[in-house]
Amino acid sequence: MCKAFNINNIHMKVILIGATGIIGKIILSELKKYEHIQVVTVSRSGGTDIRADISSLDQIKEMYTRVGSFDAVINAAGDCWVGSFNEMTEDNWYIGIKNKMMGQINLVMVGKDLINNNGSFTLTSGFISDDPIKGTINYSVANGGIDNFVFAASIELERGIRVNAVSPGSVVENYDGNMNTPATGQYPVSHSRIAHAYYKSAFGYLSGQVFRVWESSTQYIRK
Ligand SMILES: NC(=O)c1ccc[n+]([C@@H]2O[C@H](COP(=O)([O-])OP(=O)(O)OC[C@H]3O[C@@H](n4cnc5c(N)ncnc54)[C@H](OP(=O)(O)O)[C@@H]3O)[C@@H](O)[C@H]2O)c1
Repeated sequence: MCKAFNINNIHMKVILIGATGIIGKIILSELKKYEHIQVVTVSRSGGTDIRADISSLDQIKEMYTRVGSFDAVINAAGDCWVGSFNEMTEDNWYIGIKNKMMGQINLVMVGKDLINNNGSFTLTSGFISDDPIKGTINYSVANGGIDNFVFAASIELERGIRVNAVSPGSVVENYDGNMNTPATGQYPVSHSRIAHAYYKSAFGYLSGQVFRVWESSTQYIRK
């Protein structure tokens, strides 16, 4: 790109939640390449700059207080309940609702008043809402909630603030060619494509989008 048109080299402080996970590590290693990007890493159990659990509203508030001024939030965290739908209880539903769904929504709810002008929020949903796998219905519903949340929230946010979701396909750390996994036969998405989607969401121009990063040869694309 011609340097004159590259407006992306101003200093930015980015909060990366879930930085120790499979996807978080991919994002972190990409962001570290750019001198103008300062990353504050977050997880529950440590090995990061800050410990915080996004399922707790108080801990989200404390996290933002500790970070101070910031330009972007990238969340690659959020657990759900895993198990058979036939044995699922109502309480099991609330695990994903509280953690993956409300945790991410609260990051935006609280963060929208604190983030710098023209800042961005990037949330994580996932292919399971469009291409379901047995035993992960809690993920399907939480992911669908996040995809719809970013669409609706984008028209409410002010001061040039953007919000998007990245919906990754199957992402694994070291692919060994074994197709007999819960995501039967799906070809894992490359780490590079994952990194590009999060970068585009956080530092690009669009808002209210779901960037689906799927391996088109094997992932079912719901019409
Ligand atoms: N990997 C895939 O194939 C795939 C595909 C589609 C979507 N996704 C979604 O992407 C997200 C990350 O997946 P992953 O495979 O990278 O998971 P992972 O390897 O289990 O990593 C999760 C990361 O998030 C942190 N974390 C989890 N719950 C948290 C919470 N409540 N508050 C703060 N930090 C929390 C974990 O650290 P601590 O445990 O220390 O907190 C860890 O750093 C998940 O929401 C997942 O559903 C993954």
